[in-house]
Amino acid sequence: MRFEKYHGRYYFGGLALILLLLQFLSGVFLTLFYQPHLLEAYASVQQFYKTDFAVGAWLRDSHRWIAFLIFFSLVVHALRSLLRKEFLNLEKRSRVIWLTGGLLLLPMGALLASGLILPWEWKSYWLMEMIPNYFGQIPYAGPALKQFLIDAFTMNRNFVAHVVILPAIAIILLDLHVFSKARKRKGGLHRYLLKHAVISIPFILIIAVLAVYIPMPTADPEIIPMPLEGAFIPAPEWFVLIFLVPFMYFKNALAPFLGLYLALALYLALIFLPYMLGRYKKDAERREPGGDAFFKEFRHLLGNVLKVGFMRKLAAFLTVFVTAGAVFGFLYYQTYPSPTLGCNSCHNIAMGRGIGAPPDHFKDRMQEPKLDDSQWMLEHWFYPNVVW
Ligand code: HEC
Repeated sequence: MRFEKYHGRYYFGGLALILLLLQFLSGVFLTLFYQPHLLEAYASVQQFYKTDFAVGAWLRDSHRWIAFLIFFSLVVHALRSLLRKEFLNLEKRSRVIWLTGGLLLLPMGALLASGLILPWEWKSYWLMEMIPNYFGQIPYAGPALKQFLIDAFTMNRNFVAHVVILPAIAIILLDLHVFSKARKRKGGLHRYLLKHAVISIPFILIIAVLAVYIPMPTADPEIIPMPLEGAFIPAPEWFVLIFLVPFMYFKNALAPFLGLYLALALYLALIFLPYMLGRYKKDAERREPGGDAFFKEFRHLLGNVLKVGFMRKLAAFLTVFVTAGAVFGFLYYQTYPSPTLGCNSCHNIAMGRGIGAPPDHFKDRMQEPKLDDSQWMLEHWFYPNVVW
């Protein structure tokens, strides 16, 4: 089998696609057992660990590891596309690929959040409370949006969003982003998928091994650990936390500015970059046919940053890995005080309903005034043995 050039270029994009397929398959299996009800969800997820059903536990843990790795590959894929300056390809198809790639991050993030809520243990409950609080920071529309999210939330709707609505949106975007292009290639989509599956084998093996040796904790462990004795496992919830971190360290308007507006502004600017550049180019040509000095200059400048063959490749390699390393190092650092198993030390099923499993009057903000207090919630997450 001969590997054409594009396999190396889009290795991590292809990897994310193959992992998505595996995520779909393991997810179909999990839906056969999951119960989307407040009182049964947790038990229905725990049953994989309680019986001798080893394959069930393994698939459940794979499903979480795959989620983590999909995000990892998406970050690397996005960085590499950025460095290859793909936003300078101004033909219509390339622009659509750039835009849909950026848009795909939305259903992926929503799949992560809704997936974390499904098991309905304390971290799920906490996340379900934090998301409305987060959007509640938006001026004017925020409070109404927050109320809508709380009112609309039911376990069943969250489940339907996770297994039907969000995957459907993702498939439509994926079709525009990669399938339509792959279909036109020699051998079509099958060949594209097969080749990427073959070159993804090392990562698939890593996941299979990780899922056996480092199970992601959702169930209460046999011996309940002390609050800070939990394991520091790279769990998918870390990715959601990164937007919440400013809310812990910055006060007043600065927190939503860093966590919400700046993130949104950068995101929008980036996904529409080829469209803005295209417009600029057209304008420049109208003013001065044949010449678009600024645009050429811009290209030239970017091209000059990384110059010749090997050095250029090395610089690109280092940039991707240093940036990805910094993002993941920061995530790890931020989650270090909150061990993945830490919540179970106080919130475990042996403690009975209320503190053992999230209360069922959870929508009642009068009874639970702390739920509106993002600061308390975050500090309880990061320093559970201090703030509670
Ligand atoms: C040291 C024990 C302890 C640990 C560890 C702990 N909690 Fe708690 N948690 C409590 C107690 C006690 C309460 C009830 C506080 C109250 O109502 O005053 C609580 C309440 C909560 C609430 C509900 C708040 C409310 O008012 O209803 C959430 C959500 C929560 N914890 C999430 C978590 C998460 C997520 C973790 C792990 C990161 C965690 N907890 C770790 C002791 C703990």
